[in-house]
Amino acid sequence: MNKPKVFITRRWPASVEEKLRNLYDVTLNETDRPLTADEFKAALQQYDAVCPTVCDSFPTEVLNVEDKRCKILANFGVGYNHIDIPAAKANELIVTNTPDVLTQSTADIAMTLLLMTARRGAEGDRLVRAKKWTGWCPTHMLSSNVTGATLGLIGFGRIGQAMARKAHHGFDMNIIYYNPSAANEYVTQDLQAKRCNTVEEVLAQADFVSLHCPAGANTKHLINAQTLKLMKSSAHLINTARGDVVDSVALCEALKNKQIAGAGLDVYENEPHIYEGFLALENVELLPHLGSATLETRTAMGEKVLANLAAYFAGDTLPDRVA
Ligand code: DGY
Repeated sequence: MNKPKVFITRRWPASVEEKLRNLYDVTLNETDRPLTADEFKAALQQYDAVCPTVCDSFPTEVLNVEDKRCKILANFGVGYNHIDIPAAKANELIVTNTPDVLTQSTADIAMTLLLMTARRGAEGDRLVRAKKWTGWCPTHMLSSNVTGATLGLIGFGRIGQAMARKAHHGFDMNIIYYNPSAANEYVTQDLQAKRCNTVEEVLAQADFVSLHCPAGANTKHLINAQTLKLMKSSAHLINTARGDVVDSVALCEALKNKQIAGAGLDVYENEPHIYEGFLALENVELLPHLGSATLETRTAMGEKVLANLAAYFAGDTLPDRVA
């Protein structure tokens, strides 16, 4: 019997690509360049399964292409806001994702950004590299304490809770959060976490605000000129969720005017383009969407896609079906 035809949009860690080659008639994007909408349409017409990732856009126009052979989009990534889910459903396309395996590495990056923005890490690195450091003195590059400060999480799912654990048990931080549903009793007790009734309450009380809510119509520009005004002038904002949750122009203004002390960003509106205004500011730490970028995590994400494909081709229940 012919092996199923599988299309992978970007390069994956070598060990999982090797498994794909053994199991399927697989086509890899050898050059790893971002593909176009027309290439995605052609893939939907030619392959049984297409495996996109978080930087590949699958809007209605792509998903509606005629004469599709593809029946499953097995996404490499937990976020799937780059796929128009209603259009996928209307086209009877199954969509799967890769939850759980990137929780810790993403929370690690959120914590990295928190520490960097609190302690002016990138700014200090730039100073040293520019050979502008003139030596230690009692008032040089003063920053803010992390230990004992209040961390406010907006969104308290897997990644938010993992960050809260690191912050509370590692840095003795007080945890407050906003989430539509309450965390379970064990988590609440373990972290001595206080649930706030509104996002606004978190913004007003936290020394560090970390975003962990999904992207969507109801969270687009949740952090905007109005909501930024609620934050303390000494507070920092961390975004490892999705760029669309923050209005970049408003955040840039708030940072420039010292309305808030700093920010740490791993995700952006219109990636990989970064709002130019950020580049001139010392008080924003900018990482290139590194949340899940460890070899172990990316390999585990590939394994998750393999498990979803295996279940699909065996006719079994899909482990991580989102549509
Ligand atoms: C995801 O999987 O959604 C992450 O953003 C990738 O780091």
